[in-house]
Amino acid sequence: MTLRVLTGITTTGTPHLGNYVGSIRAAVRASRQPGVQSFYFLADYHALIKCDEPARIQRSTLEIAASWLAAGLEPARVTFYRQSDIPEIPELTWLLTCVAGKGLLNRAHAYKAMLDKNAAAGQDADNDVTAGLFMYPVLMAADILLFSAHQVPVGRDQIQHIEMARDMAASFNHLYGERLTLPSALIDDSVATLPGLDGRKMSKSYDNTIALFAPAEQLRRQIMSIVTDSRAPGEPKDTEGSALYQIHRAFADDDEAAALTRAFADGIAWADAKQQLFERIEREIGPMRERYAELMAHPEEVERLLQAGAQKARAIATPFMRELRHAVGLRPMSAPSVVATPKAAAKSALPTFKQYREADGRFYFKLTDAAGRTLLQSRAFDAPREAGQAVKRLQNEGAAALKELAPQLDLSASQTEDHIAQALALLMQAAAQ
Ligand code: TRP
Repeated sequence: MTLRVLTGITTTGTPHLGNYVGSIRAAVRASRQPGVQSFYFLADYHALIKCDEPARIQRSTLEIAASWLAAGLEPARVTFYRQSDIPEIPELTWLLTCVAGKGLLNRAHAYKAMLDKNAAAGQDADNDVTAGLFMYPVLMAADILLFSAHQVPVGRDQIQHIEMARDMAASFNHLYGERLTLPSALIDDSVATLPGLDGRKMSKSYDNTIALFAPAEQLRRQIMSIVTDSRAPGEPKDTEGSALYQIHRAFADDDEAAALTRAFADGIAWADAKQQLFERIEREIGPMRERYAELMAHPEEVERLLQAGAQKARAIATPFMRELRHAVGLRPMSAPSVVATPKAAAKSALPTFKQYREADGRFYFKLTDAAGRTLLQSRAFDAPREAGQAVKRLQNEGAAALKELAPQLDLSASQTEDHIAQALALLMQAAAQ
């Protein structure tokens, strides 16, 4: 099965060097790997949650799209689209809204941070909290689950959102059958967070960013303004704690980095070190800048690429959404429901997994045969997704998974291993059809 990787970029700002080093560059590289199906999208619905300036959203959407394309994203290889071009996303958002626990959403960091801020300011808890902010994790779950993504490359601050998407998927599957793929966050620890002009993490909120595709002269001026200590030319300099050195490190190969380390020890003047940094960045970014300028001058070309991307995305989203609507009971009057079609009848003769919660508040699953007899009984799990994971493994690997899962199974309440193995084989066979 191809690995599906998906990530979204909120369209509220102009890409800076930190975005390039922290996500764009690695994502473009990853998208060229064989055997991976990549989805990149402009999260403009998410942008509405924090930005009420229409012109800025439109501008940022163009800038981000042009940046990714200029950085080498090949629309023919990946699915590159704008969130708001996919009506199935808000549609799935609603289905997930109906299975997402309010308590789960109460725990979201971004929402809780607002409550804390209000409390600290002596304000009403809900001051300035929109329902959009509260629902942010559900929209994000829909983004991910609609395309059955396995991996979601994100920053650490987004891990909780991926966990919540898993939770919602597990709840949905529990109610309506295994349809949604449980995603995992993919954290790349090798990409450094880039320091900004003042040495703190490069971030729009600190106003210390270096624009990714500013004209070369502006790039040079910004680099010249990076803070350094006051050591004079000829005095040895520390690489440690040097923002200049760290930014250089993010672009340089090992030899280039070693050369700058030596130059620091030999007392290179800060101005010369900055010039070297400028030249190194320019070597990588310069050629992309031309393509960026071209795209910015032709928004209709970017629009055309995004429309083609939306078509590609909807080729997946539309039939899948139809299946999900059917699963929850949003069906034409004429569609068969309880009355079994031959296929459904065959299915009902199969053993089935059931996931459920006991009065003890913990989570369980069992495998029952067509007559409802328990073939396999699990022990308790703390979280529904753990139970879901074990079920997934049994479905995918059959009896081969039994040994490793043994500590999680209550074998005294189960049938013999042969019985279980037979049932699992039957299920795998049916799934392969
Ligand atoms: N919330 C993400 C961020 O702020 C952006 C985003 C929206 C996203 N939908 C997504 C990321 C789906 C990954 C998958 O960075």
